[in-house]
Amino acid sequence: MLESLTIRPERPEEAAVVRALNDAAFGEPIEGRIVDGIRGTDRWIEGGSLVAETGRQIVGHLLLSEGDLFADDGQLLRRIWMVGPVAVLPGLQRQGVGSALMRAAIELARKRQQPLLCLLGHASYYPRFGFAPARTIGIEPPRPWPDLNWMALRLPAWEPTIRGVARFPPAFPDD
Ligand SMILES: CC(C)(COP(=O)(O)OP(=O)(O)OC[C@H]1O[C@@H](n2cnc3c(N)ncnc32)[C@H](O)[C@@H]1OP(=O)(O)O)[C@@H](O)C(=O)NCCC(=O)NCCS
Repeated sequence: MLESLTIRPERPEEAAVVRALNDAAFGEPIEGRIVDGIRGTDRWIEGGSLVAETGRQIVGHLLLSEGDLFADDGQLLRRIWMVGPVAVLPGLQRQGVGSALMRAAIELARKRQQPLLCLLGHASYYPRFGFAPARTIGIEPPRPWPDLNWMALRLPAWEPTIRGVARFPPAFPDD
């Protein structure tokens, strides 16, 4: 773990830094565009764009956003929180930054009484935080994504009646 690592919400003036960090971590501009596409919309969660700071440098970022949960007949049931993108500066990966961001995101979701978190991600990374195949709790993906990558984490406010087909906010690519 890096010394003096702080996790806190992004400040308004940090949008460009967050964009550059995502571009660097992913080596392409797609994820940074997603973050910018959600910023300022009703999918943006107040306090849900988290940055990891060490010294005065922002070294990691995680976005929580509001997706949708639909019934089988297409009726909107409710909003649900989605995790991603998660990004850590290439030179500082594998030192606990991503884990610290994930733990803070889970804590925020818990505090805000969210029943679950959903994500599409690396099969070997997210289970350590408790994420498991989302289909097993009745949360279907919008596309036929593999169980290994389409995951959900149940939180204390979860109830088995919360089931349906999830969809990421419109700023995410539709594939
Ligand atoms: C994935 C990512 C956010 C993890 O953050 P991090 O700070 O490097 O991770 P941590 O130090 O908290 O955790 C390290 C663990 O994550 C694993 N890990 C790191 N990158 C990984 C990846 N791309 N796939 C699977 N596991 C990964 C490491 O193997 C290590 O596992 P171990 O503890 O069993 O050795 C970061 O590596 C990153 O920004 N990668 C590029 C962008 C990306 O792929 N984002 C995730 C999209 S789902």
